[in-house]
Amino acid sequence: MINSIVILGTGNVAFHLGKFLHTCNIKILQIFGRNVIDGENLGKILNSYFINDISQISDKADLYIFAMTDTANYDIAVKANNLKGKFLVHTSGSLESSIFKNITDRYGVLYPFQTFTKNIEILDYQKIPFCIESSDKKSLNELKDLIERLGCKFYEMDYERRKKLHLSGVFASNFMNHCVYLAEKILKNSEIDKEIMSSLLKQSFYKILKNGAYQSQTGPAIRNDEIIMNKHLKLLENNPLEKEIYKKLSESIIANYKISKKNES
Ligand SMILES: NC(=O)c1ccc[n+]([C@@H]2O[C@H](COP(=O)([O-])OP(=O)(O)OC[C@H]3O[C@@H](n4cnc5c(N)ncnc54)[C@H](OP(=O)(O)O)[C@@H]3O)[C@@H](O)[C@H]2O)c1
Repeated sequence: MINSIVILGTGNVAFHLGKFLHTCNIKILQIFGRNVIDGENLGKILNSYFINDISQISDKADLYIFAMTDTANYDIAVKANNLKGKFLVHTSGSLESSIFKNITDRYGVLYPFQTFTKNIEILDYQKIPFCIESSDKKSLNELKDLIERLGCKFYEMDYERRKKLHLSGVFASNFMNHCVYLAEKILKNSEIDKEIMSSLLKQSFYKILKNGAYQSQTGPAIRNDEIIMNKHLKLLENNPLEKEIYKKLSESIIANYKISKKNES
């Protein structure tokens, strides 16, 4: 049973996962990182100890969660002698669990399919789906038990499917967020208060969650309204990158709804 954890990393995931585990009475033994200010702050929040020297890492934890960048996860794991034979997992969507296989025979993945930004609250921690993978049955069962104690759902998922899930998350969350940012920039440059977009965003998400994205599409591309699309492209004349994004997304909508075929028939 996992009762004590060392978290490696002091970024977005370390912050939120640490808070969630701490709230659920799982002991965070140590936080390892290289950023002393972030690490000591997180240490206070989690009632834990911050260390920035890998040789000081405790060998007493039931689980070690690597929540650093993909390259740092590997580099630190090979440098930490105390981690040999321990239960190691990382939180990445697109990294093999086997990065740990020369260090221990107990390793896996604990990938939370959620977007985390430090200091921005999570609406409901217990709604976070965790994708898990493990080197052996015992470790897998321990991860399942941990997630159940957090009150969350788990999904067993191998590397190939996890990479695809991650890709879908990049479209649904990261690219969507960037599109909203581009929209905010247009409003700012036109001196329009971005608050005007709030109701549109809420209704868009309501429709997606209620009916699915395919059924919810509106706008000039799905209507194949070339006059409007050309007016918009003209407004983006001085911004070739954003003009290209507008063109490509419109092309994608047209292709996915087979609009030209529909019009031809
Ligand atoms: N954020 C999300 O929404 C999210 C969701 C699910 C999964 N993930 C995955 O979780 C992992 C962490 O993501 P994140 O968003 O928390 O990243 P992040 O906020 O950028 O944090 C990365 C952490 O890694 C540390 N780090 C980088 N290189 C290091 C090194 N050489 N030695 C020691 N520490 C090092 C950083 O330290 P410094 O502060 O000193 O740079 C920081 O503490 C990634 O694998 C990511 O794919 C992220």
